[in-house]
Amino acid sequence: MTALSFQPRLDPRLETVLGLIRADTHADLGTDHAGLPIRLIQTGRVRHCIGVELNAQPLELARRQVARAGRTEQIELRLGNGLAPLQPREVQSVSMTGLGAGTIAGVLARGQADGKLPPRVVVQCNDSPLALRIWAQEAGYHLAAETLVAGYWPYPVLVFEQAEGTDPAYTDLPEAAALRFGPQLLREGHELLRPVLADAYGRYAPAAAPGRSAQRELDAVIEALVYLGWTVEEIRQ
Ligand SMILES: C[S@@+](CC[C@H](N)C(=O)[O-])C[C@H]1O[C@@H](n2cnc3c(N)ncnc32)[C@H](O)[C@@H]1O
Repeated sequence: MTALSFQPRLDPRLETVLGLIRADTHADLGTDHAGLPIRLIQTGRVRHCIGVELNAQPLELARRQVARAGRTEQIELRLGNGLAPLQPREVQSVSMTGLGAGTIAGVLARGQADGKLPPRVVVQCNDSPLALRIWAQEAGYHLAAETLVAGYWPYPVLVFEQAEGTDPAYTDLPEAAALRFGPQLLREGHELLRPVLADAYGRYAPAAAPGRSAQRELDAVIEALVYLGWTVEEIRQ
């Protein structure tokens, strides 16, 4: 196989992320196999990409993959934590995928405190995106897009853009349900909300009692179901 014919295969979650990125210079944080940077360059969605990796072993894998694809001129790989190895205003967007929402939110918050967070952020977390939605509201980023992608479980993919004022994505929605399950997903009645809500209901209903946190979580599930016009019986089928 020649370098030019090597195309890493992205799973549906990373294919979705790929389609949401377009920039002159982009950074992929926690790049590991570097599949996303390679495809971003190969598809022309990005002119230059910086792949950041915390650990030496995956960074070495990324180096081999980028060399195999013949893209060492366009993809720069840096060892480091989150946005730390970047310069302020060096990139127009960043992505971080395949990690927990709390970890990603922590990286974004530290990057913002250091003045390195660009105006567009594309993330895919492996758990509830609640921490990311709360981070965005506090950090002055609005939700530009969100979806769920089928996989081992429904993977949340979210795009945030820096903007002034209150995020209009949440207008006229029940707040707790929108923060936990996604304002755009609720508005569109996304089909993959059914297993997400069924899972949350199954987890919180047995432990719910007045004053308990499980009750607040269950109330948010019920709020979402009422908004969607769905019943518990329907989503558990
Ligand atoms: C589960 S892998 C995901 C790889 C790829 N992004 C994907 O979605 O398929 C997470 C990668 O992020 C790296 N990582 C974790 N925390 C990081 C941080 N704070 N900064 C940079 N890389 C990080 C890990 O070393 C690991 O290679």
